[in-house]
Amino acid sequence: MKGVILAGGLGTRLFPLTRVTNKHLLPIYNKPMIFYPIQALVNAGIQDILIVTGGASAGDFLKLLRNGTDFGLKRLNYAYQEGEGGIADALALAGHFAEGEKICVILGDNIIEKNIAVHVAEFEKQKEGARILLKKVPDPQRFGVPVFNGNKIVKIEEKPKDPKSDFAVIGIYMYDSKVFDIISGLSPSDRGELEITDVNNKYIEWGNLSWGEITGWWTDAGTFDSLLSAGSLVAKTGANMTD
Ligand code: G1P
Repeated sequence: MKGVILAGGLGTRLFPLTRVTNKHLLPIYNKPMIFYPIQALVNAGIQDILIVTGGASAGDFLKLLRNGTDFGLKRLNYAYQEGEGGIADALALAGHFAEGEKICVILGDNIIEKNIAVHVAEFEKQKEGARILLKKVPDPQRFGVPVFNGNKIVKIEEKPKDPKSDFAVIGIYMYDSKVFDIISGLSPSDRGELEITDVNNKYIEWGNLSWGEITGWWTDAGTFDSLLSAGSLVAKTGANMTD
């Protein structure tokens, strides 16, 4: 399986921190944010990785990460996202890189404590479709939230005012190659972006979206509060992602 890290966007929720740099280059305790999703993929056994970024500081990723030797990699791949089209728009740039293989996508501001290798292995076994990962949270209205019928997800609602469960769909998604056909058929949402939740809902419609619940803590780091709490979680318990 190949890995894709989405590290674009303007990071407007973190202005003025992101006025002269990209959100994913900001520190989380003792490392730049982008180090964590790379390590998460590498620890799950994924070696072939594409970083999608954009904006004025895109070149800084190359300076910081070079060929990925800090992570034991021989090379890293990079793609440049023009403009601000959202998560699914950024993912569309990975089509060439994927070459028909399954992919594991991780949002560059998602930090996890534990290894996701078991979930990657589950998806390796899955013939086709997609797999999403969930975590129970106290504030589901901030995220994509699954609606269940028994054990089955029947729909995902993006940032619902009235969440139907207390799970968040975390920013780690596994897809087969059909994901790129789905994205090319999407229209922008009310916030003007191609939504990853619309992609996942399409797989639900097709009946081939599976899900797993991660152990250990998970946080995003795209707001002042979550950036601070990501730093403290890493400082307190580490995010070595080895077990
Ligand atoms: C995005 C997704 C949302 C998901 C979240 C995880 O939200 O749209 O479904 O739960 O990432 O971090 P956003 O980055 O827009 O807050």
